[in-house]
Amino acid sequence: MPDIVIRRVESDAHIHECATIMASSEPWLTLRRSYDEIRARLNCSDREVYAAFSGDEPLGFVVIMMAGAFVGYVHNIAVKTEARGRGIGSALLAFAEERIWQESPNVFMCVSSFNPRARSLYERRGYGVVGELSDFIVRGHSEILLRKTIGPISEHKEDRVASHVRAPS
Ligand SMILES: CC(C)(COP(=O)(O)OP(=O)(O)OC[C@H]1O[C@@H](n2cnc3c(N)ncnc32)[C@H](O)[C@@H]1OP(=O)(O)O)[C@@H](O)C(=O)NCCC(=O)NCCS
Repeated sequence: MPDIVIRRVESDAHIHECATIMASSEPWLTLRRSYDEIRARLNCSDREVYAAFSGDEPLGFVVIMMAGAFVGYVHNIAVKTEARGRGIGSALLAFAEERIWQESPNVFMCVSSFNPRARSLYERRGYGVVGELSDFIVRGHSEILLRKTIGPISEHKEDRVASHVRAPS
């Protein structure tokens, strides 16, 4: 894997580069996500965007949402075409999982029914199928909802309370 550092995306220029990676790639071409729509979503205040930087260049990124019905939702993950298959996507996903598990035991994400390579990556990393959302974004294709869990929510909360109580004052 190239020498990368994963950190929060803060600048408009880097948001632009991330939006460009997504807008020019499957599955978002088939899902008809425009650059403008993608860029607006990346700028939403309820999203955390982290990129794998090589120097100042984002080679890939992951978008996380920590609010809503499914807390701990990986909204998007994408790597530049020429940087794929070198472990960057796996590193971004591992980073997102650690970030989410600080607050919640479940990581949720969707994968398009026509994206078997991404789905096999997620299944190898321990994601299981929750269900299929047919005709969800575009007619004729499904989104498969996936979950990776480290335990029930009630036990995670107890662990957090216990570690908070144990923390030095
Ligand atoms: C899916 C993706 C984020 C993985 O990142 P990566 O850096 O290529 O992944 P890694 O090097 O860590 O792992 C390689 C695995 O990724 C998957 N993968 C590789 N290229 C892919 C591509 N073009 N599309 C989908 N999955 C791909 C495969 O499962 C591959 O394993 P394999 O070589 O045994 O088939 C990246 O390939 C990508 O951006 N693909 C296009 C966009 C996409 O499908 N995003 C996911 C939407 S849910």
